[in-house]
Formats: sequence, structure tokens, C-alpha cells
Amino acid sequence: MYNTGNKKVKDELLILRDKFPILKNSTYLISNSLGAMPKSVYNRMQEYAETWANLGVKAWQEKWWQLSMETGNLIAPLIGAGKDEITMHPNVSLIQSIIVSSFNFNTKKNKVVYTDLEFPSDMYVYQKFAKSKGAEIQIIKSEDGFIPPTEKLLEAIDEKTLLVPISHVLFRNANIMNIKSIVKKAHSVGALVVLDAYHSVGTLEIDVNVLDVDILMGGVLKWLCGGPGGAFLWVKPELREKLEPEVTGWLAHKNPFAFENEMEYTNSAYRFMNGTPTIPSFYAAQEGTKIISQIGMDKIRKKSIHQTEKIIKLAEEYGYKINTPKEPELRGGTVSIDMSNALEISNQLLSKNIMIDYRPSAGIRIAPHFYNTDEEIDILFDAIIEITKEEKF
Ligand SMILES: Cc1ncc(COP(=O)(O)O)c(C=O)c1O
Repeated sequence: MYNTGNKKVKDELLILRDKFPILKNSTYLISNSLGAMPKSVYNRMQEYAETWANLGVKAWQEKWWQLSMETGNLIAPLIGAGKDEITMHPNVSLIQSIIVSSFNFNTKKNKVVYTDLEFPSDMYVYQKFAKSKGAEIQIIKSEDGFIPPTEKLLEAIDEKTLLVPISHVLFRNANIMNIKSIVKKAHSVGALVVLDAYHSVGTLEIDVNVLDVDILMGGVLKWLCGGPGGAFLWVKPELREKLEPEVTGWLAHKNPFAFENEMEYTNSAYRFMNGTPTIPSFYAAQEGTKIISQIGMDKIRKKSIHQTEKIIKLAEEYGYKINTPKEPELRGGTVSIDMSNALEISNQLLSKNIMIDYRPSAGIRIAPHFYNTDEEIDILFDAIIEITKEEKF
């Protein structure tokens, strides 16, 4: 049961707990890191092995070549994208490199602007790869390491700006960025917004058309309960043909099976692919996405707001520092709380099979998902109190 306004709502999502084996043997509050594995993944991995064993090389033609697009098409409705607009890749770092490689920075319009709150891997690709291609990098600093310096970012986006790579939801404290205002400013000066939506897809309602972003990427590992090896890329269809990624490969060719010596890009979304796709991970990737689509993002978000609010209330009661915005409209699916000895406490929680994680300066990150009970949040806080007493921190 939980409250939405004055109404008590029965938590019908808990019926899905049976589909996730790990919920039986742990208090799993870490879906911002690795979503729980759906039980059906066992069958899908078996299917993968049998396809390989029985079809051998014919598996490519009959199933595997289509799998990247098929997986992308399952994700598409969750971000408001159209059919055949998403491609799958091994990880977001590689996707960022593919994107950077698609632009020419040897012009006057060569500036890349982002804040110092971005996920490090994203920043590394721009600091190293984009810079080596001639980009001028401008990093806008947050004053406290948590609150996004949106005003300063907006000021920095000028006529020289080519790209604004930003996160939808910040990884450290789940602050939701004001994407609409950033897109508006970027577009007014002819710049493009590259959105890392890793911490929004699967926990927040998100629509590429409403946000009007140009490029979006994310992964299935966390909120989509899809395991490692499945990251997705959407590029605005009208932008696609203007880009010629230099990080490329034969699958991006117009006619890959002609094995031609000269590169001629396909006009389909496969333009951003490179070599042989990570097929086994796509089998696993599909299962969580299917469950989440069946539930619907509105229900997931409603429950997430309720449970993150509960975490905030308890943290306030116990006097812990809360690094995540208290306003629901500014808050994603995670709450970061800090206290003295947070790292030691988080290690002890893990040893008790209470799954959370710790990030320097953010503290303990707590990330309930649609399958969690309210009682699990109480279990977590009771355990923190217990550990604190025992260890005399
Ligand atoms: C915002 C964000 N982007 C990207 C990643 C992961 O990047 P990659 O897929 O390259 O491992 C994470 C992982 O925690 C993240 O939080």
C-alpha cells in the first residue's frame, strides 16, 4: 500500500517479485547499478546456446543479424522513438566515441560544453577523443558537486558551440537536469544536445520528441534489468544522414555482404554500428525491457516517487545528509545519503546481503525499483542503525 495524495494504492507491482530470483535472498536496492535479473533470462540464454548449437552459421541469417534492431525496437516505445531508429552497442563509452567521431571540430564552431557532474566515462571521451579532433572543451563547475550549474551552462552555450553532451539524470545524486531549457538554448545557436539517459530510461517517463534532443544513449544494465553488454543509441532521423562516423565498421556499410573495399554508409540506423554485434547480451537485454513496457512507465515512476520519498523521510528522521533533491520533479530513482563512515557502513550492509552502493562524495546510493517492497526500505534503515550502534561510529 502507498499514498498518492489522499488515496491509498495497493501495490499491484509486487506480484512481479517472483520473476526476479535475487529478491528471494537479498534486500535488493541497487537497480541504479545493476537491475535484478529476470528469471526468463535463463531460458533466453538457453535459446541462444541452442540456436548456436543447432543452426551454426545459419543463425546469422535466421536470427542474429536482426537482433540489434529487434532489441532496439523493444526499447523505442520507452523513449518515444520510432521503429528501426535504435541500434545496440556494447557500452555508452563506445557510443560516445562513435558520436564524437561523426563530427568535424576543425572549424570555428568547435566548442563542446558540459558540467563537471557528468559520468566520468562520458567526460573522458570528450577530454581525450574530441579534444584530439580539435574540439575546445569547456567544463562548467558545480559549486557544491551536486546542484547542476544550469544557468552557467546556458550562458556558456554560444555561437561557437557544436555539442552539449549532458546527462538526463545525474549519476551521483539523481538530480534531473532541465533538458528542455538546455535544448532550447543549444538549438538557438545551432548546437546539438547529446543526452546520456542511462539513469532515466526505465525509471522516468522520457520522450525524445518532447525533449527535442538530437542524440540519446543509455544502457539496459540498470533500470531496464537487461544485464551487461546492451547499450542503445538513438539519433534523430533527420540528422542521421548528415553524420559520417569515423569509428565505424562493415555493418555501417550500405551493402555489408558485398564486402566492398570503399566505405559507403547505409542510410538506416545501422550507419552507427561497427563490427559483429554482442549477440548473447541482446538475448538477455530484451527480458527486463518487456516486463517494464508491460507495466508502463507511469506506474513505475509513481511508485519510485513514493519509495524515494520514504527514503528521504527516514534519512531526515535519522539526521543523515541527503544529497538528492527533495522535490519529486527534480529527483530520479535514486537517493544518495551520507553520514560519517558511509563507506564502512555500505560494506557492512553488503555483507548482510542488503544491496546498495557507495560513491565518493555522494555517500550511500539507494535505488528501489518496481519490484521492491516498502518493508525493504525499513530493513535497510534498521540495519544502518544497528551497524552504527555496534561499530560505535
Ligand atoms: C550516466 C552514466 N553513463 C554511462 C554509464 C556507463 O557507461 P558504459 O556503458 O560505458 O560502461 C554509467 C554507469 O554507471 C552512467 O551512470
